[in-house]
Amino acid sequence: MRFACITLLLVSCGVALLRVNEANQAEQLIRLTQSKRSTWSDQPDPWLDLDAADSASSPVYVGPQDGLRNADKITALPGQPRGVDFDQYAGHVTVDPKKGRALFYYFVESPRRSSSKPLVLWLNGGPGCSSLAYGAMEEFGPFRVQSDGKTLERNPYAWNEVANVLFLESPAGVGFSYSNTTKDYDQSGESYAGHYVPQLASLILHRNKLANRTLINLSGIAIGNAYVDDPTNSEARYEFLWSHALISDETFARTRRSCNFSAIINEECNKATTAADAEAGNIDPYDAYAPVCVGSNSSSDSGAADQIQQTADIDPCSEIYVEAYLNDPEVQKALHANVTKIDGPWSPCTSCSDLPWNDSPTSTLPVMKQLVNSGLRVWLFSGDTDTVCPYRGTVEAIKIMKLPIKNPWRPWYSDKQVIGNLSSSSNRVWRRQKNPKNYDALL
Ligand SMILES: *[C@@H]1O[C@H](CO)[C@@H](O)[C@H](O)[C@H]1NC(C)=O
Ligand SMILES: *[C@@H]1O[C@H](CO)[C@@H](O)[C@H](O)[C@H]1NC(C)=O
Ligand SMILES: *[C@@H]1O[C@H](CO)[C@@H](O)[C@H](O)[C@H]1NC(C)=O
Ligand SMILES: *[C@@H]1O[C@H](CO)[C@@H](O)[C@H](O)[C@H]1NC(C)=O
Ligand SMILES: *[C@@H]1O[C@H](CO)[C@@H](O)[C@H](O)[C@H]1NC(C)=O
Ligand SMILES: *[C@@H]1O[C@H](CO)[C@@H](O)[C@H](O)[C@H]1NC(C)=O
Ligand SMILES: *[C@@H]1O[C@H](CO)[C@@H](O)[C@H](O)[C@H]1NC(C)=O
Repeated sequence: MRFACITLLLVSCGVALLRVNEANQAEQLIRLTQSKRSTWSDQPDPWLDLDAADSASSPVYVGPQDGLRNADKITALPGQPRGVDFDQYAGHVTVDPKKGRALFYYFVESPRRSSSKPLVLWLNGGPGCSSLAYGAMEEFGPFRVQSDGKTLERNPYAWNEVANVLFLESPAGVGFSYSNTTKDYDQSGESYAGHYVPQLASLILHRNKLANRTLINLSGIAIGNAYVDDPTNSEARYEFLWSHALISDETFARTRRSCNFSAIINEECNKATTAADAEAGNIDPYDAYAPVCVGSNSSSDSGAADQIQQTADIDPCSEIYVEAYLNDPEVQKALHANVTKIDGPWSPCTSCSDLPWNDSPTSTLPVMKQLVNSGLRVWLFSGDTDTVCPYRGTVEAIKIMKLPIKNPWRPWYSDKQVIGNLSSSSNRVWRRQKNPKNYDALL
């Protein structure tokens, strides 16, 4: 398959823009940053010097491709609506035959003139959370799972209307991606969230340079509610909770007093942030104003159902329906997933303690700056109701890069309504705020 040469890479902090009823991804990230801050080290970031890293790394493995396209083509997904007018593929890609490591992908083509449209690779963060669960099934994949956990409906915000979209479950150990050597998980811990995308982009540019030709024509990267810099992000989280009336002045003052987010975490700070999280209560961490899933099913919980009708167009219990759907053996068969009988059940996130992330740098700003300097288009966009990767963290992180402001802050209109504000630095880094209903405006 060949597509127009543009490749975009996207990732969101946790899920960022859309609602996740269970705090899965949020918990993963918060727990991870806490554990990292207790063992903070000043190791050099290997992604900054890929020439040096190259001598140590093995060449990319490319397995035989014959017949794969037909083998991976999905005839139909169980419960899919009538009139599906695009091709879908799913299966495993072996990335390391020695370790028996294979990653699972789900690929949806655009209905019309797919070969003239760009290819978008989508990676969810977490870390350890599945792009199939969130990106494909709850955000902008072609379908949404209905509350019966069995049938699918078309998603009006599907990105495959304008692009071919590849959802990858990574690393091995997440979702249907696996490794046959259990120990392999100890080494496959790469980096996470706002981390994967700049690193992958920098690897692509580096390999293009080594080959002296465009192996992959990367057009740009975009990261939603990016988790790029640990100290700014963590600091912004408590400021966000406070400025959105979710925690008291006293508790916010306590975090300010006890925490230095650039340093190894201390006991006082731990207590202060725990108190703040408790004060904020059971909110949807990715959308402070969205309803949360109460019980297990909105259609059997009339209170939640009423609230959803009033305030949200996404059912906060979706994650439960998706989990039921993807654990159905018929669905797994149709997706060519779990052909090797991996341990189940399938779950949307793999716990941090099962996937070590100790080698990830605390900030990808240096890599990000390299990418901007190389001329790659970099877009950081933010919804303004995310408490885990709040927009202020991104704004503060962008400031650290000291990029010249090319266009000052201005309103962004859609249908004569302001849907956000924009500003750009060097015409490359953008930021956007306000509740991101029009997520599809991105492409
Ligand atoms: C990469 O894609 C851009 C945009 O489609 C195109 O203008 C350019 O010629 C492509 N470059 C190569 C080397 O294919
Ligand atoms: C993992 O092991 C299973 C069962 O032996 C095998 O079918 C499969 O091909 C292996 N996967 C890889 C990537 O080697
Ligand atoms: C949700 O509740 C409805 C009505 O009670 C039921 O039919 C459906 O199976 C439930 N969905 C799941 C995923 O349990
Ligand atoms: C890279 O390719 C260009 C154009 O194809 C050629 O002029 C140049 O000599 C090549 N550089 C190296 C180091 O091979
Ligand atoms: C926070 O910690 C960093 C790293 O140890 C240190 O350089 C900085 O001065 C500290 N900031 C404050 C306000 O104490
Ligand atoms: C894979 O299939 C087996 C049954 O064949 C099941 O027990 C297991 O839970 C499935 N694994 C996942 C990840 O769903
Ligand atoms: C966005 O721009 C509009 C119009 O210039 C302005 O009134 C509004 O305050 C801006 N919003 C933010 C969050 O800066």
